[in-house]
Amino acid sequence: MKKTIAVLPGDGIGPEIIAEAVKILNKIAQVYNYKFEYEYGLIGGAAIDKIGTALPDETLDLCKKTNAILFGAIGDPKYDNDPLSKVRPEQGILGLRLALDLYTNLRPIHIFKSLIDKSPLKPEIVKDVDFVVVRELTGGIYFGKKGRTKNGNSAYDTSVYTKKQVTRISHVAFKLAGQRKSKVTLVDKANVEETSRLWREVVQDIAKSYPQIETEYMFVDNAAMQIIKRPSSFDVLLTDNMFGDILSDEASVITGSLGMLPSASIGDKTALYEPIHGSYPKATGLNTANPIGTILSAAMMLERSFGMTEESKAIYLAVEKVLEEGYGTKDITTDKILGTKELGDKITQAI
Ligand code: IPM
Ligand code: MG
Repeated sequence: MKKTIAVLPGDGIGPEIIAEAVKILNKIAQVYNYKFEYEYGLIGGAAIDKIGTALPDETLDLCKKTNAILFGAIGDPKYDNDPLSKVRPEQGILGLRLALDLYTNLRPIHIFKSLIDKSPLKPEIVKDVDFVVVRELTGGIYFGKKGRTKNGNSAYDTSVYTKKQVTRISHVAFKLAGQRKSKVTLVDKANVEETSRLWREVVQDIAKSYPQIETEYMFVDNAAMQIIKRPSSFDVLLTDNMFGDILSDEASVITGSLGMLPSASIGDKTALYEPIHGSYPKATGLNTANPIGTILSAAMMLERSFGMTEESKAIYLAVEKVLEEGYGTKDITTDKILGTKELGDKITQAI
């Protein structure tokens, strides 16, 4: 079987972590006798530097014609500190999500047994953590009208959701819960926001057609607290674009390191796989970044886009084995510290 993959390394540590995921994919291809073809594209700050835009047309075309997309990271501090800049690296990923209609963002929060004592939370609180953040990815405050008043003295961002947008992501969440622990928690701010009240209305209605699923409703401030107090009570955490962004970072650190977590951004035609962390500019080129979030994103790609369940499992098991042996980058071990490349090699050998 042959598959083509658009590879978009992006900024900061992006190229380094992507190289390790590609290494693992090559090993899978070799062991299971597949052919993976990679086509590289520019995105984010790297694309601005060369072409002047964060999402070049060639990159978008590439993403449309390949079987799946593997993405590194995006962001460059030189733009963060320039609030007046018209071009920004983030326009690359946001533009892709919109252009490819990647409305479902899955962020599994899984803790590897050997990393339990790396969590900032007590072992008995984190040991059974296993939930998925289902984040809506194409609506809300990210894509509503934004701007400044004429005199520049006030600014606004608007959050808009349609029933159609909420309906399609909610079905994803309920179906997923059916394959897991049968519980959906809708996280919103329905005591304040009109969009949240629309979410509740739609979800209450949809919940009726999934009687075997328990549905829970929680305000986002409370959810931020419950993720710390009793994280193992969640199964599928359904939420909007902005709340999902914030809560998934919070949830990720309880697993030991932000560098561990993969994600899938799925549309009806294609899907993009990326670690949930950012471009970590300070570590660029140092061979210290944790490649596991990206490697596990490649594993999600095998399972979800190519139906390669066993192959995907093989990657998880290899990561688990290497962690159990005490190896890791410096964010997850003080014992056998490896560089990005060397950790990638270890995991490759373990497959
Ligand atoms: C994420 C990131 C992005 C987001 C940024 C880079 C625009 O934080 O994927 O979580 O806010 O969605
Ligand atoms: Mg984020």
